[in-house]
Amino acid sequence: MDAAITPMMQKHYPVLLKEIISIISPQYGGTFIDCTFGQGGYTKKILEFDNTKVIALDRDPESKKVALKLTEKFENRFKFKNIKFSQLKNLKLKNENIKGIIFDLGYSYTQIKDPDKGLSFDTVGKLNMQLGLNSFSAEDVINKLDQKELEKIFRYFADEKEGKYIAKNIVKERIKKKIDTQTLVKIIDISKRRKNFRVNNSTKTFQALRMFVNNEISELIYGLINATKILKKDGVLAVVTFHSLEDKIVKYFLKSLSENKSISRYTPVTQQCENLFKLTKKKPISPSYKELNENPSSRSAKLRFAIKKSDFFDFETDIEDQFKKLIEIENFGKKL
Ligand SMILES: C[S@@+](CC[C@H](N)C(=O)[O-])C[C@H]1O[C@@H](n2cnc3c(N)ncnc32)[C@H](O)[C@@H]1O
Repeated sequence: MDAAITPMMQKHYPVLLKEIISIISPQYGGTFIDCTFGQGGYTKKILEFDNTKVIALDRDPESKKVALKLTEKFENRFKFKNIKFSQLKNLKLKNENIKGIIFDLGYSYTQIKDPDKGLSFDTVGKLNMQLGLNSFSAEDVINKLDQKELEKIFRYFADEKEGKYIAKNIVKERIKKKIDTQTLVKIIDISKRRKNFRVNNSTKTFQALRMFVNNEISELIYGLINATKILKKDGVLAVVTFHSLEDKIVKYFLKSLSENKSISRYTPVTQQCENLFKLTKKKPISPSYKELNENPSSRSAKLRFAIKKSDFFDFETDIEDQFKKLIEIENFGKKL
């Protein structure tokens, strides 16, 4: 959940739950992979249907606590793995007939409320932003990367127009002392010349930092590729995103593998994957008025899905090339 958490929100809502369930149809049974288990909102709903199994993943070790209760209740129907979804292909699936793979990107209400994770600009203390299984924190990024690198992270990941001034002031300030969350908020406030009174000054910079710390671009790209490799014919791939960059990646991936070009029988097999998916809806699904009323922070959610049309597992995609610039920026993290 990337949308800001509003004060009236007091608990975790699984976003677009009804819509997800109607797309993956668990009433007919089968195995489902919930790539972003979180508080288990989607998984619990799927397990309400007999003859279903869920394999759930989450990078946050805290999710294990929620998962443990479900493991006790659904001993033979539920399994949890504390891994990143880019590692989907390491799952030992034997002959599971995977009917659906779902992603609900970003973070949960519980995570943004956890002061140790430091995801919110209200946090007092050290910068962190690690969702789990990370190799560096936001403190490392802010205090160690150079000015140009910081500027690129803010600009490319969150379209922060004033990233240049923010990066400049970070580098100036960190000579005096290590930058913590509240110092960063102050630096951003001072650096922003164009104030937006509806959105907190820190929103974009914090989003960019969280994405960078958690390698969210490559996680999404390799998550989509590996999910598609696992999925069998008629299986559904469904993804809920919360900001335009994520949506752009999902849209490109699904569309580029589902264009209905007529294929000659002389076309090399590797090119036939252009027809790997059937896209029944071109436009994304957004939350209903009822959901927006109950959970205003679902407002930026978008759901896209596609149905796999063949048992074709070794396909080619140019998605890495398409988003090369963003992957290159994520690689700045390798030296931390
Ligand atoms: C919006 S929450 C999911 C909420 C869940 N659908 C529910 O109803 O409770 C997103 C979850 O995805 C997890 N997550 C984010 N990126 C991940 C990744 N690359 N691999 C595995 N889990 C990830 C986060 O730790 C978080 O728990």
